[in-house]
Amino acid sequence: MKLVLVVACALVDVDNRVLISQRPEGKQLAGLWEFPGGKVDPDERPEDALVRELHEELGITVKPACLAPLTFASFAYETFHLLMPLYVCRRWDGFVTGREGQATRWVRPKQLRDYPMPPADEPLVAHLLDLL
Ligand code: C5P
Repeated sequence: MKLVLVVACALVDVDNRVLISQRPEGKQLAGLWEFPGGKVDPDERPEDALVRELHEELGITVKPACLAPLTFASFAYETFHLLMPLYVCRRWDGFVTGREGQATRWVRPKQLRDYPMPPADEPLVAHLLDLL
């Protein structure tokens, strides 16, 4: 089965809230909430892919050194297997704006379970709750 590498990030603000964004209409799993990120291009370092995606999707600038790996998801969808490292980031430049029409929300760790997520993302929440 095809292996797909996606990187994701829990942005955590000074109030310990976490940013989640909603997958827009027209995308697979539309309407579900996820940690921002995206696919790693061939020959791209995962951290560089995340820096790129966070800029494209949210308009923020992140230094690779500010990305701390926390855990990863490994999930078999019907047509591909997803491998998705989750990083935590507490420092960035700029203000978060959903630049691709996606809704974004800052939520308290305990509220994360109130937002339906793709099945691959759900196990990541437990790890994040342990940290926060
Ligand atoms: O975001 P994108 O559509 O490029 O991601 C590719 C696939 O990886 C999605 O269709 C979805 O199945 C999966 N994915 C996920 N959780 C995420 C991001 C992507 O399960 N946070």
